[in-house]
Amino acid sequence: MRFDVLTLFPGIFSGYLSQGLLHKAIERGLIDVQLHNIRDWSSDPKHHKVDDRPYGGGPGMVMMAGPIVDCIESVRGKAADAGKLIYLTPQGRPLTQPLVEQWAGERRLLLLCGRYEGVDQRVLDLLEPEEVSVGDYILNGGEVAAMVVIDAVVRLVPGVLGDEESSVSDSFSSGNRWLEGAQYTRPREYRGLQVPEILMSGDHAAIARWRKEQGFLKTRRVRADLLGKNEDSKS
Ligand code: ADE
Repeated sequence: MRFDVLTLFPGIFSGYLSQGLLHKAIERGLIDVQLHNIRDWSSDPKHHKVDDRPYGGGPGMVMMAGPIVDCIESVRGKAADAGKLIYLTPQGRPLTQPLVEQWAGERRLLLLCGRYEGVDQRVLDLLEPEEVSVGDYILNGGEVAAMVVIDAVVRLVPGVLGDEESSVSDSFSSGNRWLEGAQYTRPREYRGLQVPEILMSGDHAAIARWRKEQGFLKTRRVRADLLGKNEDSKS
């Protein structure tokens, strides 16, 4: 799967892409992440200007349409599949696991990262990206949000996770809208706190029931809004 990231700050991604699971997935050829600096498509040869003051007044700067549209058209032309264009913005629809699952089936995603007060509306009118927000708060730009999208999608690309790290039982994976309950590892006792006896019982059915109940209690405590959405919330 190929990701093209369109940003004014490609350097932000270097640490993220060079570590852990992402690094391994790139090395193994399972994913390809290409970074493109929108500034390279500025029509201003001297200062490489990419933003300007908003018409009608107001604070901050708006990213100009020209460099973004030229950048996307050029990048799209570099591969046979034009790919799905996603614009990271607090004005977008919320990112959810079903959306992530849908995108994991694409061969190519283009992630446009906004900065400042956002992009000129004509970028959206012309290219009709899917506008997506990673939460109801304002980040300094779309770069961190783009990493969130990449991180969530790559987990579903076949071969990226080992068997031990399977994503199917994750909270929010298809049909699953419960949080996960508590997990324990060695030692059996830590600062006077014991691992629950049931986890040592060897009774896998009883352990599965206990875990489900713990997940339910956790969900009711911190995300009661999710319970109505569960098909099996009454079981
Ligand atoms: N850019 C700034 N804030 C954002 C958010 N919450 N989601 C996506 N992109 C953003």
